Amino acid sequence: MKIKNPLDVTVVGGGMITELQIMPSVYYLQRIGAIKQINVCALNTAPLKVISESARLKEAFPGQSFNAYPDYKTESQEAMFPDLYKQVIDKMEDRNIVFVALPDQLHYGAIMYALNHNQHVVTVKPLTLSYKEALEIEKLAFSKGLFVGTEYHKRFDDRVGMARLKYRDGDFGEFRLGYATLIEPWYYRDSNFQNWCTVENSDMFTYIGCHYVDQVNMITGLLPTEVSVYGVRDKYPNGKEGFLWTNANVIWENGASLALLNGMGYPNVAAGGNSQGIWLFTQGEKDGGLMFHDDQYRGVKHSYITKGNHQGDSYYNEPSPDYLKLLERGGEGLTPVGYGYRSIEGLINSIHRVEEVGDSLEERKSIIKKIDDEGIVATPANSSFNELVIEAGRMSILNDGRPVVIEYGDNPTVKFKEFK
Ligand SMILES: NC(=O)c1ccc[n+]([C@@H]2O[C@H](COP(=O)([O-])OP(=O)(O)OC[C@H]3O[C@@H](n4cnc5c(N)ncnc54)[C@H](O)[C@@H]3O)[C@@H](O)[C@H]2O)c1
Repeated sequence: MKIKNPLDVTVVGGGMITELQIMPSVYYLQRIGAIKQINVCALNTAPLKVISESARLKEAFPGQSFNAYPDYKTESQEAMFPDLYKQVIDKMEDRNIVFVALPDQLHYGAIMYALNHNQHVVTVKPLTLSYKEALEIEKLAFSKGLFVGTEYHKRFDDRVGMARLKYRDGDFGEFRLGYATLIEPWYYRDSNFQNWCTVENSDMFTYIGCHYVDQVNMITGLLPTEVSVYGVRDKYPNGKEGFLWTNANVIWENGASLALLNGMGYPNVAAGGNSQGIWLFTQGEKDGGLMFHDDQYRGVKHSYITKGNHQGDSYYNEPSPDYLKLLERGGEGLTPVGYGYRSIEGLINSIHRVEEVGDSLEERKSIIKKIDDEGIVATPANSSFNELVIEAGRMSILNDGRPVVIEYGDNPTVKFKEFK
């Protein structure tokens, strides 16, 4: 896409996802002229120093930098700045971009603040933890002709795109039964997760199960109608309690069922970045169909003679070339490749599509509606079933796995399943 007017972006949250995926993507978009200035806000200075001094980012994007809030060169390491991002947003010109990368339970407040200050929004998943909040965001954004998109990067994994076209052409038949797993590494327990991904805020199904729920909808177009989640309570190193292993069952509108295993326990010594994949069993008139994606082992085996000091580093590795890598493509620095980059590019391009039409509110709304209907990037209007699933999942996990049904219609809602 040829960009006429590059936009400024304020990233709110400077944690793991910002360092690994958002910064390489927005730096590259800045290099190719889609983004102008980059601001990054965090709660305190430490993560901003890490991102700013990252050798990986310096090698890939020589000469590029961002404005850090708080300024890690002048502010004390101990001070906390929970509201500083608001001052940064206040100073932005209308209709630029706020990229929310805060812990799950803080998304809603930051998104509403950005919309109320006339900014387009991209947020890491989940959009919010409740359907009511998602609906409020959808309505406010649409009324102002502002785009809101949720970053579900698996939507941009080409194997999902292939399966979607084949499924929708009828080549798989109908989804009946499936299972998916996403187990993150054990060492996540030692990270900032232990401060927020605790039983009262979130759980492993809410945190990562949503990727495969979203993916099944992306491929099949089916909506989830019932959720039950069993969670194992474990202690983090700081003593806080989290649902660190979850076993969920999601029933779909056609009666199909997806079992989902999530956890924070993939061995540190193991070869991949995590354990993940999906099996879908489908049926036609005379035979069954099958879709299997091994999303961890993507066909690459490396054994190095050196090993870093990170907890997850190992000599033998099965790296994924598909999520996000920084590679030489000729020219200066390195280029991000993979669905992690494509997803952010797709969302930022969506904002440029909306901005292309300029000041006409009606025209911006019509582009937003078009993007909603395409169903490729996740927007509140086309993916709020994810918030309903999260709400249902939270209700279930806090009640020992009781099944919770999702009712759609004019006022979608979740409630405990009644047994007659
Ligand atoms: N696969 C995925 O799509 C994926 C992967 C990882 C994380 N995420 C999502 O990204 C979000 C962040 O995850 P993470 O792993 O980067 O977490 P993290 O704990 O590493 O980082 C959170 C960041 O938020 C910042 N923060 C907290 N309160 C703030 C405030 N008031 N103002 C400014 N900054 C504030 C902290 O300084 C920290 O930098 C979560 O919602 C998570 O679910 C998505």
